Amino acid sequence: MRIGIAGLGRLGRRHAENLAWRIRGAHLVGACSPVEAELQAAQADFGIERLYASFDAFVHDPEIDAVVLVTPTALHADQVIAALEAGKHVFVEKPLALSVADCERVQAVAQHHADRVAMVGFVRRFDPSYANAMAEVKGGRVGKPFLVRSQTCDLNDESGFFVRFAESSGGLFMDCSVHDIDLARWMLGSPRAIRAFATGTIALHEGLAQHADVDNGLAIVEFEGGARAVFYASRTFAHGHETQTEVIGTAGKLLVGHGAARDRVVLSDAHGVRHRAVADFFERFSEAFERELQAFVAACAGGPSVPLTLADATEATRIGAAITRSLRSGWPEAV
Ligand code: NAI
Repeated sequence: MRIGIAGLGRLGRRHAENLAWRIRGAHLVGACSPVEAELQAAQADFGIERLYASFDAFVHDPEIDAVVLVTPTALHADQVIAALEAGKHVFVEKPLALSVADCERVQAVAQHHADRVAMVGFVRRFDPSYANAMAEVKGGRVGKPFLVRSQTCDLNDESGFFVRFAESSGGLFMDCSVHDIDLARWMLGSPRAIRAFATGTIALHEGLAQHADVDNGLAIVEFEGGARAVFYASRTFAHGHETQTEVIGTAGKLLVGHGAARDRVVLSDAHGVRHRAVADFFERFSEAFERELQAFVAACAGGPSVPLTLADATEATRIGAAITRSLRSGWPEAV
């Protein structure tokens, strides 16, 4: 599978490394970025020869079969549509788009290109622990699941990257909690969300106020049939990255990822007894990032279809958008 990657920033660079060196059946042959230095690095580090500053020229390259889009979220919908219409298979980072209308535009075009794979990178579904947890839930080990409590908490980034990023990311809930939203729907059997309430605070990063965003946020979502979800996201943890999810059912509960311990090493010294912490989501989900691209490439080559649909991604955006509206209005919002 001849693959082109668009976007070689924070995450794109990691995806490029995986595509170049670790994914069976993938040949990373093309790259697109408006930043000349990123294209030069792609050539120097991965030997990529087909380099494009223009996205339009990139998606129409006949030597590329599939594209991986790791571009700013606000560009996703139009770029996915352009790629599908150019006959490419598409992997696009989460969230699919910031509005339901944009997600639905993508779905409508994808229906006319049903022989092309269109996959959204909800990476946690490919994490071995989350996959095992889902197998337990499906096997009935917690009875009927009715409550998911899930959090995505990042180490405080003093550089302010995500303050600048807030312009295009959709804010804390669309950027971070959208993962938890997708997991909650998955674990609860994809019920329809009906209402959301959110609140939050700026603990450290005052610059977020101009984007109507917060650096710590809480949300509650009600689903049809009685299931509920509680989400917490933080940009300001002092110790490391801490993603965890609890699924509570009528006959038990399970917990994925407790605390932020990097490994099984416990260091005891004059300061006490402690673990080193997971630094960031790359470290926590490195295996899952490989597995999701492996699943994409296999699906493009005619293997098993990918286990999540564009409709799932649309629902995640629908819920994330309602949560964000509630954060701003201060009232519960219909989903
Ligand atoms: P970034 O800002 O570091 O990188 C964006 C890249 O897109 C840059 O290389 C930039 O030059 C390029 N770009 C900008 N306009 C472009 C255009 N018109 N055509 C082609 N390339 C263009 O952002 P980051 O953090 O890498 O995020 C990118 C996407 O990945 C976002 O949608 C974000 O939500 C998602 N993401 C997903 C994560 C996950 O856990 N699955 C984690 C981090 C980001």
